[in-house]
Amino acid sequence: MVERVGGPQCNILDLCCGQGTLTAMLCESGANVCGLDFSEKMLELAAKAAPDADLKHGDATNLPYDSQSFDAVLCNFGMMHLPDQPRALSEIQRVLSPSGGFIMATWAAPDVSPAFGTVFGALKSNADFSEAPPQPDLFAFADPSTAEEMLSQGDLKLTNHEFVTATWELERPEGLFEIFLNGTVSAALLIKSQTKEIIEKIKADIAQKVETEFQDDEKFKVPVSMAMVTAQLRLLATLRVLAAIGRFFAAHGKSIGVRFWSSCSHSSSIAKYRLTSACSRTKCPLRLHLAADAWRYVALWQNFTSTSER
Ligand SMILES: C[S@@+](CC[C@H](N)C(=O)[O-])C[C@H]1O[C@@H](n2cnc3c(N)ncnc32)[C@H](O)[C@@H]1O
Repeated sequence: MVERVGGPQCNILDLCCGQGTLTAMLCESGANVCGLDFSEKMLELAAKAAPDADLKHGDATNLPYDSQSFDAVLCNFGMMHLPDQPRALSEIQRVLSPSGGFIMATWAAPDVSPAFGTVFGALKSNADFSEAPPQPDLFAFADPSTAEEMLSQGDLKLTNHEFVTATWELERPEGLFEIFLNGTVSAALLIKSQTKEIIEKIKADIAQKVETEFQDDEKFKVPVSMAMVTAQLRLLATLRVLAAIGRFFAAHGKSIGVRFWSSCSHSSSIAKYRLTSACSRTKCPLRLHLAADAWRYVALWQNFTSTSER
């Protein structure tokens, strides 16, 4: 995430920043970083980890920032805990600058991730899910088509969805159960909603699977996968597609390009003629404004095509 968006002069929001691990890395990259979380305790830890960040206590579904404040919004393992995700996404869209981007990380589903496969397999065989409190779908954004649909509700366009796999190196086979019990939110709620006997059974099943499938010398190495989801504002995505088409014509379709260009210049001369006659009919003093506007659009276009090429 830091490699993709960090860097000097970049305004970044770390949403659901928690104890500030990512916040600190973003600050180190030279970016101007804001961090937001609704847990005061987490923010105290974040203040120690990232003293240069501007940390705020707040709710991800009602952001205390002006519109278009950030070049990038990141959300590392936070989105899946928000009960009103469409509202959070439209807030993210509101605070992003027109050329800004959104990146989030979320756990991959049990069929992709061996760590989650092991734990959710044991839960499925032993747990009574009717006892579990209702929660948002933990893996919604791990599925590319669901992610695309959810993002579009916030007027964001999915631009990339990829899986990344890391390895959890454990000293003991029980270590995997302990990570889920003490270091997660949704899975821990599921486990804690069960009776003592069932919890012991779940723990034993997980430990047995870790021992038989993931032992590597003295240690136990369990692969854990996550989905990285990248999005940008819909309008920018459309402009980038147009720029790509333009580049295609420039590279491959000289003759088509020439015809395209001459039809454009033909319609622009008609537009120019209409504007000029409208201005002279009404003795409009706005010609200068129109010229300035035209220059603004040319500059915007040049800036846009050069960033698209990067
Ligand atoms: C699993 S932690 C991730 C923390 C951090 N991003 C990281 O990668 O270590 C999820 C965080 O989301 C925060 N959170 C959950 N719901 C929130 C909400 N509605 N608004 C702001 N923060 C929220 C929690 O307090 C918690 O710190």
